[in-house]
Amino acid sequence: MTATAASTATGGAASGLRHLAIIMDGNGRWAKAHRLPRIAGHRAGVEAVRRVVEAAPELGIEVLTLYAFSSENWKRPADEVADLMGLLRHYIQSEINALHKNGVRLDFIGDYRALKPDLVKLLEKARLQTADNRRLTLIMALNYGGQDELTRAARSLARDVATGSLDPEAISVETVSARLDTAGLPPPDLVLRTSGEMRLSNFLLWQSAYAEFVATDTLWPDFDAASLADAVAEFATRERRFGGR
Ligand code: FPP
Repeated sequence: MTATAASTATGGAASGLRHLAIIMDGNGRWAKAHRLPRIAGHRAGVEAVRRVVEAAPELGIEVLTLYAFSSENWKRPADEVADLMGLLRHYIQSEINALHKNGVRLDFIGDYRALKPDLVKLLEKARLQTADNRRLTLIMALNYGGQDELTRAARSLARDVATGSLDPEAISVETVSARLDTAGLPPPDLVLRTSGEMRLSNFLLWQSAYAEFVATDTLWPDFDAASLADAVAEFATRERRFGGR
């Protein structure tokens, strides 16, 4: 779709797209293509985050979940991990007031409490400051892995069974959902991955059971409001069945 067509695309509210989850991929390839160091790709990726956070509510999107750091990203070279953490710290510090002013509620999923204590403090402060905002819920997945999340939920249920406060037969889809980091959020309607890859990479495994999937060739640092509108328009063409016919 052209940018012009995209700008008139159906908004999220009209298309039923309440929750968009994005696997932001291609920062490294973008940097390579521009003969820049990888950090420059991640920095440009933060600019794309800014653009998308601004455009999402205009398209009727209520919840935007961004895969910012996976539980597997620790395997990257230490200097790249440090760069990503530095960018996250800087993003929160420099954006929090603007996010708050724009009605964005910021929250986190993943085992983010395992990050450096000063960063955890900053994240929790940002969460508290924006807790009452309603225009957009921005969820950052930090030190997140779907398998890890399900493992933590299973452990929490098992603990309650062991103490006798939970009957194993009472465990249902709802009780499992309520123990996940995403408890209280609607499931993603659309999972979008940039840079042409077709993998879920351990992202929202349980929650994506009936999500639509869109892959775009655009590298994350090049992703903008028009790319977002294109994805929403693609979503609007999908017929969702949720296992029915
Ligand atoms: C994938 O690019 C992207 C990530 C590792 C995570 C996304 C991180 C950002 C957008 C920057 C930090 C975000 C915030 C909000 C502070 P890649 O390096 O895997 O790209 P490649 O596959 O082309 O190498």
